[in-house]
Amino acid sequence: MSVKKEELDRWIREAQMNAEFPQHRAHGMYGDPKLDKINREKKKMKKEFLDLGRQPIANKFLKEEEFSDEFFYDLKVVFDKDTKLVSLKEFVKPELMFNEDYVYHTSLSVPMVKHFKETAEMLMKEFNPLTVMEIGSNDGVFLKNWSNDYTIGVEPCGNFAKVTEGMGYQTYSEFWTTELSEKIKNDGHVDFDLIYAANCICHIQDLDDCFSAVANLLSDKGVFVFEDPSLLRMLERGSYDQIYDEHAHVFSVTALDNLLKKNGLIIFDVDNLSVHGGSNRIYVKKPNIASDNTLRPSIFENLKEEKSFGIDNFKTYEIFAERVKKSKDDLVELLVKLKDDGKRIMSIGATSKSTTVFNYCGISTDLIELITDTTKDKQGLVAPGSHIPVVDRESVNLNDYDYAFLGAWNFKEVIADKEREFVENGGKFITHVPEVMVFS
Ligand code: TMP
Repeated sequence: MSVKKEELDRWIREAQMNAEFPQHRAHGMYGDPKLDKINREKKKMKKEFLDLGRQPIANKFLKEEEFSDEFFYDLKVVFDKDTKLVSLKEFVKPELMFNEDYVYHTSLSVPMVKHFKETAEMLMKEFNPLTVMEIGSNDGVFLKNWSNDYTIGVEPCGNFAKVTEGMGYQTYSEFWTTELSEKIKNDGHVDFDLIYAANCICHIQDLDDCFSAVANLLSDKGVFVFEDPSLLRMLERGSYDQIYDEHAHVFSVTALDNLLKKNGLIIFDVDNLSVHGGSNRIYVKKPNIASDNTLRPSIFENLKEEKSFGIDNFKTYEIFAERVKKSKDDLVELLVKLKDDGKRIMSIGATSKSTTVFNYCGISTDLIELITDTTKDKQGLVAPGSHIPVVDRESVNLNDYDYAFLGAWNFKEVIADKEREFVENGGKFITHVPEVMVFS
């Protein structure tokens, strides 16, 4: 696809202006009464389209004695008519989600380990960065592909920050903010040629502050590369379980283009990935710097595809909400019928996504007896809200069950391959993506 020269020029001019006049950045707006008024107006632009009910902290697996203190909030979703960003209506306090007890270990997911190794190799080849920072470095799956002489991590979950410190990577155990970016600068770090983040930027509630902090630490020739679940894929697949407390936003390229430009940054490439049920990897640079990272057609192709799907139109979200309601009715009807027929049902993968599904659909141990999960920290506990027990896969004979719900539907192929014996013995899988269905 070819891009018109005027379009490119307009594009770059807009981003350049914001880069050169940082007072235009939303971050600088707070505290100024005139600009606070603008922010209040902006809030009015957010229109609710989906209510997923009362939900617990999606990754807070718990013991019985913790039931009485379990935290719940209302999971509602809004569309910002101004920026086109889809976000939670009320954010959950970050410290309640990201702390010492955080249980998602990226290194325990074999497909994701391979994904991050390949990503690091590709970035090394393409950009050859001399300095690297990862925001949300988890247990070091991405970091370990780079030398610890020139690579640092940022990770608010103390348990993981300790792991990467132990691997020799300086790790700031803090949330990513402009304040932290200043601290990193003051500690004597030079600007970074590569700032990378996977499944992390969509967790950050104040995106203007986040992008402004990135711009603060990105070297002139540097690239900021981040990947998160794609809103377009979520809308296409009806995978409403991408929505939970940690995902403060579900990104479209359209909304990111608007927000990054506002903060003096510009998208120059987009990769559509299959991980996490369909993600986008976004490549960003400073607009006013001549570099090799010229704008690639992918950005315009993605914007065009999103526009033709109606990503900028509120009606699209109303249609999606209807589909989500139907998915709930279909899933509950199927599980109740199977139970009435005397079938036994379990679930594979105690995911944040399944927290959304089970709590929205009101599914508990009366319908699904247990969940198996390979993560040791989840085993022996019960799932948030639904209180379905989570156990080690090795402790369960799957042949005792007739149906397995795919809590980790994004690993459908991997799981179906691992559990061939279950299928050979007559076992069937249930998924709700893209529609509620049984398959074997
Ligand atoms: P994710 O969908 O957020 O990546 O989480 C996947 C979860 O599913 C994680 O807790 C590990 C678990 N899992 C299994 O229990 N069995 C499997 O075969 C796979 C691939 C994942």
